[in-house]
Amino acid sequence: MCGIVGYIGRQKAINVLIDGLERLEYRGYDSAGITVIENNQLFTRKKAGKVSDLKKILDGIELKSNIGIAHTRWATHGEPNDKNAHPHSDNSGNIVIVHNGIIENYKAIKKTLTDKGYFFRSDTDSEILAVFIGYIYNKVKDLEEAVRLALSEVDGTFGLVVLSSYEPDKMIAARRGSPMVCGVGENEYILASDTSAIIKHTRNVIYLSDNEMITLSYNGIQTKTIDNQITDNQIHHIDFEISQIEKGGFEHFMLKEIFEQAQTVQDAFRGRLQVNEGTVRLGGLRSVAEVLKNAKRIIFTACGTSWHSALVGEYIIENLCNISVEVEYASEFRYRNPVIYPDDVVIAISQSGETADTLAALREAKKKSATVLGVVNVVGSSIARDTDAGVYIHAGPEIGVASTKAFTSQLTVLILIAIYIGRMRGISLPDGLKLTQALSELPKKIEEVLKTADDIKAIAKEYCNARNFLYLGRGYNFPVALEGALKLKEISYIHAEGYPAAEMKHGPIALIDENMPVVFIATKDEIYDKVISNIEEVKARKGKVIAIATEGDEQIKQYANHVIYIPETIPMLTPILSVIPLQLLAYYIAVELGCNVDQPRNLAKSVTVE
Ligand code: AGP
Ligand code: GLU
Repeated sequence: MCGIVGYIGRQKAINVLIDGLERLEYRGYDSAGITVIENNQLFTRKKAGKVSDLKKILDGIELKSNIGIAHTRWATHGEPNDKNAHPHSDNSGNIVIVHNGIIENYKAIKKTLTDKGYFFRSDTDSEILAVFIGYIYNKVKDLEEAVRLALSEVDGTFGLVVLSSYEPDKMIAARRGSPMVCGVGENEYILASDTSAIIKHTRNVIYLSDNEMITLSYNGIQTKTIDNQITDNQIHHIDFEISQIEKGGFEHFMLKEIFEQAQTVQDAFRGRLQVNEGTVRLGGLRSVAEVLKNAKRIIFTACGTSWHSALVGEYIIENLCNISVEVEYASEFRYRNPVIYPDDVVIAISQSGETADTLAALREAKKKSATVLGVVNVVGSSIARDTDAGVYIHAGPEIGVASTKAFTSQLTVLILIAIYIGRMRGISLPDGLKLTQALSELPKKIEEVLKTADDIKAIAKEYCNARNFLYLGRGYNFPVALEGALKLKEISYIHAEGYPAAEMKHGPIALIDENMPVVFIATKDEIYDKVISNIEEVKARKGKVIAIATEGDEQIKQYANHVIYIPETIPMLTPILSVIPLQLLAYYIAVELGCNVDQPRNLAKSVTVE
């Protein structure tokens, strides 16, 4: 699930591998390891912990090799310890693999191999694949063929790289479900699960497709399917800068990304928003314009923060386009035989474009003949490539595990999509103009919100020892309450729940006492008065209220212990502003508690296993 790097070329492999692992660190992991081929022998070191722990055990060892593989693990099968760390080898010790994903039928393969006298050193599913490849190699004496045959027997997901002292000038990689990209440099190739490990060396990449494998040698590469059909691959150009994956003076990537939002929201609508025409241009949707215009139902599918964006999208699209919208957790959608009609439009939202649940959900929708669209950040990612059409959010690389700028960019793109469909379905020009004008003013307003950072830091100091938090909002800001709670949970490990404010009285109100901080999103809109009543209910029970309110609202000060003001905008755009104080609150609380903000425990940036 986490990180893979492979190198073959003219540089010292170990340097490229370690640098690559460090660039993948943001994805979250529990152990790391490398294998290089030194004088035709495999040399492996692996260690539970950080890449720095791996570096320590490599200290002082001179490795000249030009070919090697490396891995950061996010344990799915077996504890995170040294023996379970990758690379794993076959029984002969001459073939090693690094693997991201899950081998679902590992038990059956293990039983067959154990019956034949093979043994296992680790508790992982991955080792079974290494031993299996070794077993087949003994019969076919050809590494590529052994890998291919093994993979055709395997169920589950894999991003895989294989190295062997039997054929020391070769490296073989394959994918199904987990990402795998091959950087094509000058006389060198870098394989990685994420382009951030590649761009230092080259910007030219080949994205492997599912069930595709690649064989790399010093002289060239060849790709084929696991079914043995030769494939032809295009070289794509990555256009982000290395500075975008560095901290640029901020203490954490998360803080940098929060502060980038004025820019990233602008980037999401740049070239698309036609302010003077009250409409938007979305080249990525041109091919499905008619389908969208006539759609009877839109189904969003996503996970985590992207799912929260979808919830906001539901409110916006129903309001502007008068189309029925449903929002589905991707992980539930796939397994409950959903009713999907051929004229449904299914929109998958994903920052990484690699989330296994979301990918599976959209494939399910495709099978049922729906039009499948993507709202994705990572260009060339699996979801982007598997959809019929879509809109990139252009937020740039998001490194902090807790998603921030991707959320506001997703919301921006969802509003663009709503205006796009809405104008085809009857939003008037004056209404269109109002929306596009308001959207164009958001970056300046985001700058204003970011100026509240110091006040939020002070609030964070006061409440960082609370054990629980409630987040409440209504309408467009109900999903923001969910997102605020998720941010706090993820990075500070404080228990937090988000609810629609009016639901509080149906249960969660029982939790409220003088120790319970309650964050209200109470911006001025048609349900403002109702939210004020909910705040009163909390005050009556001595809860501590932190309110996100609209600039100029003096009344709210009577009810709230703390007020953070955001500039006024039209209600459906408020989530893009109101979420920012919640991101900052979570961030400063986590920093106050000494938590690892960018790599919170147990989490990974991109969840490529189901
Ligand atoms: C957000 O802070 C999370 N780390 C997580 O919930 C994330 O949003 C989710 O895993 C979906 O990821 P995606 O957008 O890359 O598909
Ligand atoms: N399933 C494998 C393991 O637990 C790979 C996990 C990963 O993707 O990092 O070792």
